[in-house]
Amino acid sequence: MFNALSKQPVDKIMQLMHMFREDPRENKIDLGVGVYKNAEGVTPVMRAVKAAERQLWEEQETKAYVGLAGDPVFADAMVDLVLGDAVRRQQVAVVATPGGTGAVRQAFEMILMASPQARVWVSDPTWPNHVSILKYLGIEIVTYRYFDAETRAVDFAGMMEDLDGLRAGDVVLLHGCCHNPTGANLTLPEWQQVIDRMNAVGATPMIDIAYQGFGDGLDADAAATRLVASSCPETLIAASCSKNFGVYRERTGLLMAVSQNEAGKALAQENLTSLNRLNYSFPPDHGARVVTMILTDDKLRADWAAELEETRLGMLRLRESLAGELQRLSGSDRFGFLAQHRGMFSLLGTTPELVERLRAEHGIYMIGDSRMNIAGLNDETVPILAKAIIDVGI
Ligand code: LMR
Repeated sequence: MFNALSKQPVDKIMQLMHMFREDPRENKIDLGVGVYKNAEGVTPVMRAVKAAERQLWEEQETKAYVGLAGDPVFADAMVDLVLGDAVRRQQVAVVATPGGTGAVRQAFEMILMASPQARVWVSDPTWPNHVSILKYLGIEIVTYRYFDAETRAVDFAGMMEDLDGLRAGDVVLLHGCCHNPTGANLTLPEWQQVIDRMNAVGATPMIDIAYQGFGDGLDADAAATRLVASSCPETLIAASCSKNFGVYRERTGLLMAVSQNEAGKALAQENLTSLNRLNYSFPPDHGARVVTMILTDDKLRADWAAELEETRLGMLRLRESLAGELQRLSGSDRFGFLAQHRGMFSLLGTTPELVERLRAEHGIYMIGDSRMNIAGLNDETVPILAKAIIDVGI
């Protein structure tokens, strides 16, 4: 039977991770997978996470199942973190999921259950796994322009022109903040125009928010998601705790479905809970419990928020120093966009051939579309990367 299986398409982020590991060069630089690294190249366990885990180890008396939708206290704490008071809690159905990817997958499955003919619009480019999962589920994909190759900012005019093609029942997938892979983000007035367009035709927004706290701050990064949730009749929100709590391997995320009223919420909740049961039964608890402990304890929460803020400011400093170094070497402002982008990534906007030369000649690894993980840099490697970018002729 297994002989009948076909080869699977390669995930370019996973492939690059593998190539980096296999590269024997000592001075290689990893700007690939979206995992935060400090100046020493380490992905640290955050202080508040360590403290909560220590406390959990002491206090936890059972590993019995929690609930199909996860712990309601986790749901409350995360709805509060992402949505603040933008909507009433009674409007929001929530399931805990294995990471943000689990939430994205459950959202697409819910779309399929509710409306098998729905088309899902994704930005060009988007996180490649969005497209892979949609294709796997057989959901029709439509792309909208997003990135201006000249300015390396959002091509908002192009985006709106493409969204002219929206139809009632379509779903529009948007990145809540820190767009992956480009680093370029909509302004709030632009978000409002997208909202108006979706509402005018009866399209449903789906927000993927995986980097809250990595861009302009915890609340600023959630502002667009809150605006959408409070302005549209229904919203799907896939949120990840992997990055902002640094709990990547614990697989901690959640899917929220915001409805207009409690009856809508109840039906969404029933379906989401059933999807959890069908796909993996109970969601993982460890990461969610640690996150809950942090968010519900004033001291732990303050310490977590402070460490997250240090992380965010560190990435901003790296952006500015890379843009500055490139300005010095190139004698032009053409890399100024690096300081304007937000989050872990920037799309350099160059060809796969030059990205390959960076890898082959300089041991610098970025995704083939020229996405680089800013957090993979430090004060020593910023000048090395800048020089390599100029050397290969970007
Ligand atoms: C990324 O975009 O690199 C991260 O979200 C990790 C992943 O799973 O792809």
